[in-house]
Amino acid sequence: MNYNKKSVENIDVKGKRVLVRCDFNVPFDAEGNITDPKRIDEALKTINYLLEQGAKVILCSHLGRPKGEFNPKFSLAPVAKYLSSKLGFEVKLASDVIGDSAKSLAASVEEGKAVLIENVRFHKEEEKNDPAFSKELASLAEIYVNDAFGTAHRAHASTAGVADYLPAVSGYLIQKEIDVMGGALTDPKRPFVAILGGAKVSDKIGVINNLIEKVDTLIIGGGMAYTFIKAAGSSVGDSICENDKLDLAKELVEKAKAKGVSFLLPIDTRIADKFAADAENRVVPSTEIPDNWQGLDIGPKTAELFAEAAKSAGTVVWNGPMGVSEWDAFAAGTIAVAKAVAESGAISIIGGGDSAAAVEKLGFAEKMTHISTGGGASLEFLEGLELPGIACLEDK
Ligand code: 3PG
Repeated sequence: MNYNKKSVENIDVKGKRVLVRCDFNVPFDAEGNITDPKRIDEALKTINYLLEQGAKVILCSHLGRPKGEFNPKFSLAPVAKYLSSKLGFEVKLASDVIGDSAKSLAASVEEGKAVLIENVRFHKEEEKNDPAFSKELASLAEIYVNDAFGTAHRAHASTAGVADYLPAVSGYLIQKEIDVMGGALTDPKRPFVAILGGAKVSDKIGVINNLIEKVDTLIIGGGMAYTFIKAAGSSVGDSICENDKLDLAKELVEKAKAKGVSFLLPIDTRIADKFAADAENRVVPSTEIPDNWQGLDIGPKTAELFAEAAKSAGTVVWNGPMGVSEWDAFAAGTIAVAKAVAESGAISIIGGGDSAAAVEKLGFAEKMTHISTGGGASLEFLEGLELPGIACLEDK
């Protein structure tokens, strides 16, 4: 994957109509209020830069999965309202995506002002990356800026196809993701430590395979550790375990060994008598999980071991919780790792999704070098895959 992409700073936008693909896919409560505007806030740097440069900004995004049909539940109206409050002028919303409303709004936008078109996923052609639809979208503008890192792993019309018809550059958000995560993958400050958690090995095979080639230490926690523990010959009781991945787990451990990568698994485990927040629980060595019990968090000795590894790192990448961190009784491992990564002094990169949410919730966000705004996108990035929303941008 080529990370050397042009950004908004490498193109003259003054007086130009600029189509900016953002990821405004924010969560809502039952009353339709935005519950976490982080993704919109993070797009503001690019939007403000373009406004200051005198561009005519046409914003677009998806919201949810409306399956290619107009659905008021997925309208970007609340986003337009939020943007208006942040930018200090009314951000008008077109009632369609490539229809008369979008076309006239895009044609009328003034220099230093921004408008928004409706949810691009109101057209089934969006997710099909339909060339005619991409061309119509492109016709709204003269330059395309992609800043939707969270959707950069999708080859859709507004994230990739449109770049066939316009000069295409990245926004600051994508640029930062490329710089920090791309930097870690190509030239990490060593030791390079990766901490991977989450429930399933199968979700992380690509990431593990790619990172084994690059890291000095690979740490596996969370539910997927039990597959590795069982593969090494121990019984794991009722713990989550992918029995069809035991050979793969062995292969990955062998591969790590052959590469000289230190491979750490939990040495102790907090087990529970059922999968419940109020389950009875205790700590046992990870090789001695009794029948009818299941591991729901790493134990304190493991937390210390993983924390030590994080503290000695030059670069640390963390993706996936160490246990069922949404339940207080099984959150200690994730908290300990979050704290250790935050205090490590290393270049700290948090893959999006659950670990990003945990870091935010625990108040460690400010201490991290980078919290990726993509869930699926950051995983695919760490897998070393080419992200269509980045690949489509012009090389420097
Ligand atoms: C996300 O929330 O991960 C992105 O906005 C992508 O959404 P999607 O999974 O519906 O493509």
